[in-house]
Amino acid sequence: MLNRITAIELSNGVHIPLLGFGTYDSTDENELTTAVKAAISAGYRHFDCAYFYQNEHIIGKAIREAISESNGTLKREDFFIVSKCWNNFHSKERVPLCLDITLKRFGIEYIDLYLIHWPMGFKEGAEDIPMDENNQVIPSNVHFTETWLVMEDLVRQGKCKSIGISNFSIEQTKEILAMCKIRPVCNQVEVNPYFQNRELVEFCHSQNIRIVAYGSLRSTTYTPQQNWVKPGNLVPQENPDVVSLAKKHNKAPAQIILRWLIQCNIVVIPKSVTPSRIAQNSQIFDFELSDQDMEIFKNLEKGSRINHFEGARLHSLYPFSD
Ligand SMILES: NC(=O)c1ccc[n+]([C@@H]2O[C@H](COP(=O)([O-])OP(=O)(O)OC[C@H]3O[C@@H](n4cnc5c(N)ncnc54)[C@H](OP(=O)(O)O)[C@@H]3O)[C@@H](O)[C@H]2O)c1
Repeated sequence: MLNRITAIELSNGVHIPLLGFGTYDSTDENELTTAVKAAISAGYRHFDCAYFYQNEHIIGKAIREAISESNGTLKREDFFIVSKCWNNFHSKERVPLCLDITLKRFGIEYIDLYLIHWPMGFKEGAEDIPMDENNQVIPSNVHFTETWLVMEDLVRQGKCKSIGISNFSIEQTKEILAMCKIRPVCNQVEVNPYFQNRELVEFCHSQNIRIVAYGSLRSTTYTPQQNWVKPGNLVPQENPDVVSLAKKHNKAPAQIILRWLIQCNIVVIPKSVTPSRIAQNSQIFDFELSDQDMEIFKNLEKGSRINHFEGARLHSLYPFSD
C-alpha cells in the first residue's frame, strides 16, 4: 500500500482527507510555521483550525508561503481548511463576523468546512470566555439552532463549502437534524481508546454524519487555568495492548491508535509541533490492523473523557452531562 493520505466522502459529496493536522495550543510563530510546512511536506492538506486558537494568521501565512514556494504544484484548492465559530459569536449578527475574521486571518476567500465549535453560546463581546465570580462561563441566550440558520446562509453565500458541528450530544444533533435545510456533514468530538464515545459515534454514522476525532492521542497540553481537563490523564500510547500491536506491526503506538480510528471510518486530526511526529502520524496508510487487532480496542474503553470544559458545566446547553 502507498502512504498516500486518502479521503472519504461527506454527505454533501465533498471529500475530506482522513488525516488532518491539529493546531490547538500552538501559538509560537516560528514553531508553528515550521510545523505547518513540515505537515505540507509530509502530505497533509487538511488543517483543523479555529477562531479560538488565535493562530489562524500564522497557519494562513505558512500555507500561502508554501503555495508560492511550490512553483505551481500547490494551489488553494488542494487544501481542506477547517475553522470553527467560537461561542461568543453565536447570534445571527456575529456568526458572519467570526467567519470574516477567520477568512481575513487566513487571507482566503472561503473555508472548506465551518463548524459550530460548541453548542453553548457565551455572552457576546470581546472576551472569548467571559467568566463570573464563581469561575463559570457567562452564557448568552442564543440557541444553536439560530446559529445553524446563519451557517446555512454562509454556504449559500459561498463562504464555506460544508458546515458541521462540534461537541454536540446525540440530543443536540437531533435538534439540528430536525430543523436544518443543510445537514451537518460532521460532528467533531473526543474519541480515543480510553474514551471511545461509541453511542455518539454510532448515532452520527447512522445519520451519515462523519465523526472527526480530537484528543485521539490524549493531549496533555491544555492550559491548566482554563480548567478544561481533569488531572490524572491516562495515556493510551503506553497501554500494553497498544504497545504490543505497535511491535507486531513495526509501528509507533500513536500510529496504531490513529490507524484504529481511520479503520473505524473516523477522521483524525492529531496535533504535533514536532516534525518527526508530524511525519510519523502521516505514515498510517501503509499497513492494516486485522479484525482481531481491531477487537482488542473494544476492551480498552475506560469511559474517561479528557476534555470536560469544567468552567461551562452549569451552562444549560452543556453537552457532556453523561
Ligand atoms: N473541537 C474541539 O473542541 C477540539 C478540542 C480539542 C482539540 N481539537 C482539535 O483536535 C486537535 C488534536 O487534539 P489535541 O490537540 O487535543 O491532542 P492530540 O492530537 O490528542 O495530542 C497532541 C499531543 O500529542 C503529542 N503527539 C503528537 N503526535 C505524537 C506522536 N506520534 N507520538 C507521541 N506524542 C505525540 C503532541 O506533542 P508535540 O506537539 O509536542 O509533538 C501533543 O502533546 C487539536 O489540535 C485541535 O485542532 C478540537
